[in-house]
Amino acid sequence: MTKVDKAPTTLAILGSGDFSKSLAFRLLRCGFCVVVGSRHPKLASQSFPHVVDVTHYEDAVRKANIVFLAIRREHYSVLWDLKHLMAGKILVDVSNNRRGNQYAESNAEYLASLLPDSVVVKGFNVISAWAMQQNYPQDASTQVFVCSDSVEARQQIMELAHQLNFQPVDMGTLSSSRYIENIPRRLFHDWKGPVLAAVAFSIFFFSYSFARDIIHPYFKYKQSDFYKIPIEIVNRTLPTVAITLLALVYLPGQLAAIHQLYYGTKYKLFPKWLEGWLQSRKQLGLISFFLAAVHGLYSLCLPFRRSERYLLLNTAYQQVSVQKYQQQNKTFP
Ligand SMILES: NC(=O)c1ccc[n+]([C@@H]2O[C@H](COP(=O)([O-])OP(=O)(O)OC[C@H]3O[C@@H](n4cnc5c(N)ncnc54)[C@H](OP(=O)(O)O)[C@@H]3O)[C@@H](O)[C@H]2O)c1
Repeated sequence: MTKVDKAPTTLAILGSGDFSKSLAFRLLRCGFCVVVGSRHPKLASQSFPHVVDVTHYEDAVRKANIVFLAIRREHYSVLWDLKHLMAGKILVDVSNNRRGNQYAESNAEYLASLLPDSVVVKGFNVISAWAMQQNYPQDASTQVFVCSDSVEARQQIMELAHQLNFQPVDMGTLSSSRYIENIPRRLFHDWKGPVLAAVAFSIFFFSYSFARDIIHPYFKYKQSDFYKIPIEIVNRTLPTVAITLLALVYLPGQLAAIHQLYYGTKYKLFPKWLEGWLQSRKQLGLISFFLAAVHGLYSLCLPFRRSERYLLLNTAYQQVSVQKYQQQNKTFP
């Protein structure tokens, strides 16, 4: 295993893009010295506070033992000439890809194969440049997933994440980097089931109301109520779906309790479907709240619409009356 040098107080960041700037601010605020490596140090220095040492890549690497790589995987070739300088140093790979499974191996593993004498640690990729700039931990997501084949380097970066007011999560060896690199892309992963359920219930209840209140009167009494579709029918569907989803928020808790009572223990695993259902309660509740809020807005708009319709009818009636009066005056001058 490669020997890791002692933790420094000066940290290097290679690249001077958005992530680099935010990370530099964060590090400065938490009391670290920062040196930034750039291809164009003069130009780049204008975007950093004057206390940040903005210099060439080689120089930046020489000055620190922990180096953050704030450059994209496509540009890792710039590191090739720095190979000898990076030996024995900790390289923190913060990169994400534009698409899922874009490359056969993860960026961090690719980097480790490019620079076998360095210690690669994957981390901080789930923190956006914006979140990195926030002052207080509660302002943004704070979990930082860290993995590396070197336990010592992993501990060091986790300690650093802690000092930067993040919550480090130990993800083990570098083989976890693919999973970590896919996390930013999985933001709405947990929403798929609840959204599908909401869409399915919406279609069902809308079709039911449509058949009962539009189709049935049309065929039975030749009454055309199609104008009701955009407001009344939709406004009847929204609360029904909202309340159904709310029921789905509470139901799995009851089923879980029954499961525990039946088996006489709370240590037996729930079946997969129930586990998934329990985990999507928050999303179901939020969609339910959203639909209820839209229903509230719709309901508020209904009286306006009615008064508007009344005004229109009234105006039309007045115009017809005036025309009739004028015609009568012509016929009988
Ligand atoms: N932005 C975010 O919110 C965010 C969040 C998490 C992770 N990340 C990751 O952080 C890394 C940097 O992201 P970023 O948003 O800061 O990207 P960016 O704004 O495009 O900056 C990338 C930097 O790479 C350097 N670079 C080196 N060789 C280059 C080349 N041949 N062509 C162009 N640039 C080259 C440039 O710095 P110099 O010109 O100074 O050399 C450039 O400023 C990426 O891997 C990204 O996936 C970003």
